[in-house]
Amino acid sequence: MTAPSQIRLYEVGPRDGLQNEEKLVPTEVKIRLIERLVAAGLRKIEATSFVSPKWVPQMADNAQVMAGISNLSGVDFSVLTPNLTGYEAAVSAGAKEVAIFGAASESFSQKNINCSISESLERFEAVMDRAKAENIAVRGYVSCVVACPYEGAIDPQIVADVAAKMIHMGCYEISLGDTIGAGTPKDIRQLLTAAGARVPLSKLALHCHDTYGQALANILAGIEMGISVIDSAVGGLGGCPYASGASGNVATEDVLYMLNGMGIKTGVDLDKIIEAAWYISDFLGRVPASKVAVALQKNR
Ligand code: HMG
Ligand code: MG
Repeated sequence: MTAPSQIRLYEVGPRDGLQNEEKLVPTEVKIRLIERLVAAGLRKIEATSFVSPKWVPQMADNAQVMAGISNLSGVDFSVLTPNLTGYEAAVSAGAKEVAIFGAASESFSQKNINCSISESLERFEAVMDRAKAENIAVRGYVSCVVACPYEGAIDPQIVADVAAKMIHMGCYEISLGDTIGAGTPKDIRQLLTAAGARVPLSKLALHCHDTYGQALANILAGIEMGISVIDSAVGGLGGCPYASGASGNVATEDVLYMLNGMGIKTGVDLDKIIEAAWYISDFLGRVPASKVAVALQKNR
């Protein structure tokens, strides 16, 4: 199969990117970052998460972030909701799209959301029932699609099974998370062959962390198989608090540079993404974890 002519970038910087930062990022900075991402042309942005503030303090200002971006139109702002408590808080804060997040590893599920995979699916059903009744779109995540920080290699058939259950529940799309970035293109091909047999490839997205520098190669393998939605984080921000060694997500600007070079349309402006990458990186006191933002910093 040849690569699609158009790719949708799903920006996770404000959520996945910032959730693990030690330095508390003020709400104002998060809002200014999201404004820059919108101005760059991104139309799918994960803004925050409605999880326990004891577990993830950096996302405790979720409702304030939602209020601060409520004037931005034409963009789907999604938020993570692990259970009904989170769903209700998200909808009260104005969310029109939520994401439920499961895993293909029992140990990771326990560490991340404090329940087994099957318990998580029951919690998600409750969220889904309400979301259907209230016309809220639901995205699904499956973490540890290649490897788990606690269990090692994960069987692609388990990933396919969890993804199929979440699609059957009513998720409009499933994002397959290489949470610790351990996969190589061969793993991604095996994964997509297994998952693609149960869920149409048009409903699968790739969510690659770049811990081992494999993310761009993995994304290329995915899009050559027909994947047309890619998760990324501006400046290569990110990491998961329950996956030690999980460094940043693949950088939006690195993905964009590759897609631009391949003539694949995204509707996103590279210079504006680089400006956003430097904005948040300057705040965090470091250079972006992205080759492209460093190479093109003359543009900022
Ligand atoms: P729990 O402790 O099992 O929940 O946490 P509980 O139902 O037993 O309740 C305990 C307390 O938490 C209660 O409060 C609840 O009200 C409260 P108390 O009575 O003690 O005062 N509570 C909540 N508060 C706010 N929001 C909620 C909520 N639910 C219960 N939604 C829970 C279960 C899932 C909440 C917890 O484990 C949690 O917050 N985990 C954090 C998960 C997380 O955010 N992980 C990082 C994101 S996932 C990720 O990064 C991977 C991804 O990027 C893909 C990839 O890379 O693979 C998506
Ligand atoms: Mg992630």
